[in-house]
Amino acid sequence: MPETTRISVRAERPYDVLVGNGLLDELPALLGTAAQRVAVIHPPTLIGLAESVVHLLTSAGLTAVRIDVPDAEAAKTAEVAARCWSVLGQAGFTRSDAVVGVGGGSTTDLAGFVAATWLRGVRLVQVPTSVLAMVDAAVGGKTGINTPEGKNLVGAFYEPVGVLCDLDTLASLSPSDLVGGLAEVAKCGFIADPEILTLIESDPAAARMADSPALRELVERSVRVKAEVVSADLRESTSVGGQVGRELLNYGHTLGHAIERRESFRWRHGEAVSVGLVFAAELSRQAGRLDAATAARHAAVLTSLGLPVRYDADAFEDLVATMGLDKKTRGSTLRFVVLNGLGSAEILSGPDQALLRAAYGAVAG
Ligand code: GLY
Repeated sequence: MPETTRISVRAERPYDVLVGNGLLDELPALLGTAAQRVAVIHPPTLIGLAESVVHLLTSAGLTAVRIDVPDAEAAKTAEVAARCWSVLGQAGFTRSDAVVGVGGGSTTDLAGFVAATWLRGVRLVQVPTSVLAMVDAAVGGKTGINTPEGKNLVGAFYEPVGVLCDLDTLASLSPSDLVGGLAEVAKCGFIADPEILTLIESDPAAARMADSPALRELVERSVRVKAEVVSADLRESTSVGGQVGRELLNYGHTLGHAIERRESFRWRHGEAVSVGLVFAAELSRQAGRLDAATAARHAAVLTSLGLPVRYDADAFEDLVATMGLDKKTRGSTLRFVVLNGLGSAEILSGPDQALLRAAYGAVAG
């Protein structure tokens, strides 16, 4: 079996992201000697894995409590967070105790938020079980819940002490969930590591296989991209003028988020981001920044993975209105991450409607 890969995130409290197989055994060491109680937060579908984690922790002499939370976005509510706090309170969790998030991005967002807020912060280990959570949600310290007014409106930057990307957990993903996560992988290729694109182009089918060496390499490369970006700008505070800090990770997301909202979140995040990436590339091209071949490469790579690259031709006005509500808009000015070339991005602020409409032509239909 290949060795475990260790990727460091050096932001405010350095930690490692481990990528490999059979990584759960690393958990007790990561939790440290001070922790006595550990809450394992997981969705119902992962009860088997959560029970294995509880068994492992109990065998290591810890008291482990399982907290079963709803699947997907339904986990990210104030009510579910309050139920977790209540379990911690009743089990007598102190500041030296710990939280482990086992699941996809919604579970790790919630678990991170619970860890950040309980006694103003307890140790957190993330065990992401989807490609999306491994390469994006569980790395980089963004935690949060939704409110009826919108997604991720309440949260905290709170770094884990470690992230265990155990590739064995990907075997239980549905093919569409796995492919959904690959949109963020492709994004990392365009914004920072073109080798990711070459790997996908050389064998797109292998990229979609849970146990392939190709997927492992794609996950590792994408985690490295994310680790670099968040190490330089954990709190998303260094985008100034056209310069991009952590906002770089938002490439393709401005339109992507608007599509998710218009679809009442029935589209997978990765599917909406896929369309958003093609739009952002075309916007970059039409703004005179990106060459036609690199723009066209977006749709080719994403299509080869089985991701959508088109959306309702009549939705333009709706999507522009919704993009104006995106929390990353400053004042009423729309902001887009655009590419000047592979691995070179800038912020395009306040593009005019005609340019947006022209770029939308690339995804309409
Ligand atoms: N998912 C975008 C970020 O972590 O900043």
